Amino acid sequence: MCGIVGVTGSDNAVKILLDGLQKLEYRGYDSAGIYVNDQSGEDYLVKEKGRIADLKREIGPDVHGSTGIGHTRWATHGVVSVDNAHPQVSKDNRFYLVHNGVIDNFQELKSDYLSDVPFTSQTDTEVVVQLIDKLAVEENLNAHDAFVKALTLLKGSSYGFLLMDREDPDTLYVAKNKSPLLVGVGDGFNVVCSDALAMLRETHDFLELMDGEVVTIKPDSIKIEDKDGNLVERDTFHVDMNADETDKGTYPFYMLKEIDEQPNVMRKLAQVYLSETGEPVISDKLLSSMKQADRIYIVGAGTSYHAGLVGKRLFENLTQTPTEVHISSEFAYEQPILSKKPFFIFLSQSGETADSREVLVNVNAAGYESLTITNVQNSTLSREATYTLLLHAGPEIAVASTKAYTAQIAIEAILAKALGESDNQIVAQRFDIRQQLGLVATGIQAIVDAKSEIEQLAKDDFLNTSNAFYIGRSLDWSVSLEAALKLKEISYVQAEGFASGELKHGTIALIEEGTPVIGIITQAKTAGLTRSNLQETMARGAKIITIVSENLAKNGDNIVLPEVDELMTPLLSVVPTQLLAYYTSLHKGLDVDKPRNLAKSVTVE
Ligand code: F6R
Repeated sequence: MCGIVGVTGSDNAVKILLDGLQKLEYRGYDSAGIYVNDQSGEDYLVKEKGRIADLKREIGPDVHGSTGIGHTRWATHGVVSVDNAHPQVSKDNRFYLVHNGVIDNFQELKSDYLSDVPFTSQTDTEVVVQLIDKLAVEENLNAHDAFVKALTLLKGSSYGFLLMDREDPDTLYVAKNKSPLLVGVGDGFNVVCSDALAMLRETHDFLELMDGEVVTIKPDSIKIEDKDGNLVERDTFHVDMNADETDKGTYPFYMLKEIDEQPNVMRKLAQVYLSETGEPVISDKLLSSMKQADRIYIVGAGTSYHAGLVGKRLFENLTQTPTEVHISSEFAYEQPILSKKPFFIFLSQSGETADSREVLVNVNAAGYESLTITNVQNSTLSREATYTLLLHAGPEIAVASTKAYTAQIAIEAILAKALGESDNQIVAQRFDIRQQLGLVATGIQAIVDAKSEIEQLAKDDFLNTSNAFYIGRSLDWSVSLEAALKLKEISYVQAEGFASGELKHGTIALIEEGTPVIGIITQAKTAGLTRSNLQETMARGAKIITIVSENLAKNGDNIVLPEVDELMTPLLSVVPTQLLAYYTSLHKGLDVDKPRNLAKSVTVE
């Protein structure tokens, strides 16, 4: 969602801010802005609706400075407009604030403290910046103290703030609560960002910030205070990632690059999580915690939830441990009755999803152990869970998740194999994970190498349809849900994933002449049944497309998948559906990587 950047101590502030905002574009946004100050009385506030390219057009050659803040806004309070874009500014043009998150009591703050203040936006952020100003002026507080006092008045909020004071223009003030924000440490300059990716061209050394801390940053100093005002010492952590990894190279969109990267992600996971002899390398502590559990609860949102559905089958097959999968936003407020010894697995590409974090906070309060499987080192869900396994997928920039989904499933498979084997489960002992990951890697490669056939399918059957349905049974149904989500989120085709047995209980009424129905068929037990269900839709005018494992394929099938163990088929069957969504979006002329209304990292509930 919203992205925050800041810098102090560099004559290149405007460029650093704009480059940083560009790197944060993937998070999703609808307007953007910067404020820069040159320390000698000149300052500039520029905001624009639309893309960073639109903002750049508004920035004249005179705009310069050495300290500044920038923001990409994903509208929550108030429409998309220049007035509502950040930075928000106090009425006397003294304080400039960018903000990620939501202030729950902003209406009360407005009426209790600011009834005499003229507001120029509909945002909760403006309430906070006007409040800071009011406290500074009326209580004669400096920027730091006014900021701290304002923070104490915010209720039940998740936020990341970055503040500048025109009267102290080389200083950045930072605070966060349940929202990602990092300080990057430079030589003679310092930066602030919502995601290290935004500042990798400036530094690789970052300081993690904790909820409730207030940080004062100058070009050559960083002061961290805890919520009681005590100074905090903290070591930096090094982000070992090449800034070029975040470029899309010759690819037209990140999504295609990320789909193509999946074979290498599978190989990387085998390298990181398997020994030379092919045995899983998972810490004994994690395995012994999981072995004590009588039930596994997998929690996630969107695509991560879908990866959890596949995980259920892996854990139940290879470890015989009953496994439940839950949507985080539902679990958080309608918690199921838990077993006596639950173990929680959080799936989250970003590690920042507010819905999932809400569950983790409750899990921690109840004293249960948990594991986060995430792509982002040091992310909130990683820090707050008992254990972390990293996806090692490399940065995923496109809003539509692809390689993180397959990496999540691969790690679930490795973990289930390790757990089952440590419990002498014969199915797990026989499951050759190294061989399977190898087959998956070459299998995905074969599918992406034949992408032009899928592009043709997209052109023939998906550009003019308003509906499409994926159908399948068991694991194929789980993949159908993910396939449908991919198609709808980037191509805006109304797509659904159905359990194929359910069609005749209601949903078959939706089939019209020419409606594409894609059957996923990888499970021997149910292959015949799904084929019959496809025939039923065809008899009612549907345009049938099949995605089938080689051993179950028949003449006339559209996409034939190389053979892997039945448990691993989601890793292959999902790939054509990713490509189908990609090419449909591409040929409809849409912005594949940044679909409307969506954000990459969903940091509000
Ligand atoms: C869809 C997609 C989302 C995310 C969801 C959870 O392509 O990416 O559905 O999966 O917002 O995000 P994470 O995995 O970061 O918790």
